[in-house]
Parts: sequence; structure tokens; C-alpha cells
Amino acid sequence: MKKVYFTVGPSQVYPTFNKHIQNATEDNVPSLSHRGKEFKKLFQDTTDNLKKLLNIPSNYQIFFVASALESMERIIQGCVQNYSFHLISGSFGRAWANYASQLGKKVTTVEVETTFDKEIADLEIPKKAEIICITQNDTSTGFWIPPEQIYQLKKNYPEKLIASDIVSSVPFVDIDYKYVDITFFSVQKGFGLPAGLAIIIVSPKTLQKTGTLVKKGVTVGSYHSLNNLSQKAQDFQTPETPNVLNIYLLNMVIKDMLRTGLDKIRKEIDLKAKLMYDFFDSHRIYQPFIKNPQFRSSTTLVIDVKGESEKVRDKLSKKGFLVGAGYGDNKDNQIRIANFPSHTIKNVHQMLKYV
Ligand SMILES: Cc1ncc(COP(=O)(O)O)c(C=O)c1O
Repeated sequence: MKKVYFTVGPSQVYPTFNKHIQNATEDNVPSLSHRGKEFKKLFQDTTDNLKKLLNIPSNYQIFFVASALESMERIIQGCVQNYSFHLISGSFGRAWANYASQLGKKVTTVEVETTFDKEIADLEIPKKAEIICITQNDTSTGFWIPPEQIYQLKKNYPEKLIASDIVSSVPFVDIDYKYVDITFFSVQKGFGLPAGLAIIIVSPKTLQKTGTLVKKGVTVGSYHSLNNLSQKAQDFQTPETPNVLNIYLLNMVIKDMLRTGLDKIRKEIDLKAKLMYDFFDSHRIYQPFIKNPQFRSSTTLVIDVKGESEKVRDKLSKKGFLVGAGYGDNKDNQIRIANFPSHTIKNVHQMLKYV
């Protein structure tokens, strides 16, 4: 039976994935030297295309690392001497704060989960905080932080760095990068690719901060420190032997998205999200977990199913539709449904018929 993965990551592969992987094999991409001309060209092409797709300023740098969790650690190491601040709307934001704490930083957190009814932009950030870490779309709860509220925080605290996890909202989320110093994502969600590759996008101000820490003798990491990644990226290289195959596949999918047009992709995601939220808002038993529409994620929907998670998932799975269980303690009470570019409107209509 043909399956459709509505799981929140890894998820359904991009529709052109099979063609690209076949071409990659024929062109010997997995054997390319990461110090050779062809790889440098691939690095440059991929970062240029990503800048074009996501409207990233030309003076921002793009780094390739292994995962989004790694990105969280690199950002703390590279940008924080003593104090970090974390806006937490679910388990991924909480994990990031824990990593900062494990790295010996003094961590302040604010939890904005379901009961939150204020403007995020009105939050008081401690004076000493050097960075504001925000999980823009927390996949564990389906809590979406409107980007405009992040920009307002930056306007209120222009001297602080803003770092944002866009792992499960990219490429749907439209970020105005002049207000965000660091963004990161891994590719197994919105880009429909195998896991094992993540992207960090950094502003010049971020690299200045790393430089200042290095001068002060603060440890900022080793081979994947932001300054080392930056030096290598200037020569279109990575410090380690990277995931060349996945970088190649990412470039191909970005090119496909450029051809389709991100506006169209975003409009379709809006439409599919509306279909699903309308369905669950009027469902007798199963209800969206996030009640306030302004904080509802369009890309990762979390639905309360009152202890019937396994039942719903089994029923859908028998029809070829895979959805995720709730995260952590919510495993039995929730399902999570991805709404990425790889999911068609037809897929959504079909899946909802069997809920
Ligand atoms: C919001 C968010 N951040 C970070 C991660 C971690 O990503 P990775 O497994 O690529 O490290 C995930 C994975 O699900 C996520 O959803």
C-alpha cells in the first residue's frame, strides 16, 4: 500500500526526492571530495539558492551542521559568555534551555504554553541576557510564535542577539532576517529530506559576538564553533567531511521550490491548515490543543484525542496515512499532524475522511 507520512519529522519525502537521489547516484555525488571544486560549487549554489528562496540578506552566512540540536549547542557556545534567556512554548524550547544550563550558562526562562494570554513582545527580558532563544514553532505542542512578536522583541532589546528555531515551520514561516540574528532548521521536515543535516543562518552581529568571546578567551567550541564554520564557509567548505549527498538533495529541492514559487507553497499550507483546523474545531471529541488561533501552528497540528491516540493512529495507518503520537507525556492523549510542502490537499482530504 502506498503510504503518506503526516508524521512531524522525518516526514513525507519531497515529491521529486526519488528522481534526485537517482541522479545523485548516477553523478557519483556520494563520492565527491569535500575539498574539491565540485563540492565548493555545490556549497555556493546551495547557499545562494537558499538565500533566494528564504529572502536571506546577502551579508548573512549559512553553515551546514548535523542536526538542529547541535545548532542549539553551537549557538549557546558561540554567543553566550554568561547569560541566556529562553522563551519556552514546549519541549524543544525546554531542551535548548537545558543545554545552555549544561554548558554552564546562567539561564532565565519564561513559559508561554497554553495558558498564555499576553503579547510576547511585552515580556520583560533580564538586562544581563546576551541572547533571546525562541522556538518559533514548537513541534511538541504546535505552539506558533508570530514572527511580528519576535521582531518587536528585537526592537525592544536591539542590543541582544535573537536566535530562533524554525525547524518545523520552514519554509512556510516568512522571517524578516533583519530582526533575527540566528535561525536554524534541519531538513527532515519542511524540505522532505532524510535527517542528518541542519542549517544555521547567522548575521554579521552574531559573528562579531563570537569574535569578542574568542578574544576574551571564552571557549566557543572546537571544529564546529561558529567562527570556525564561518572561516571555512568563506571558502565554500565545512570543517568536517559533511553530508554531501543531503546538501545536494537540499539544493535540488530548493530549486524545485523556487520553480513552484514559495508564495504558492505557503498559500497551500494555509489552505490545508484551515481544512484541518475547521475539521477538528467542529469534531465532537477531538479538539486542537492550542485554543488561541494566533498561536496555532499551520505546519504541525497537535490535536487532543482524549486517550485515543493509538486508536486513531492505527485506524489511519490501516488506510496508509501515518500521523505522529503526542510528544512525551502526551503520547496517549494527542496526535500530531504535519502540514509540509510534501503533503497535497488531496492527501489531507483523504486522511481526514478516516479520522
Ligand atoms: C522544533 C524542533 N527543534 C529541534 C528539533 C531537533 O531536530 P534534530 O532532530 O534535527 O536535531 C526538532 C525535532 O523534531 C524540532 O521539532
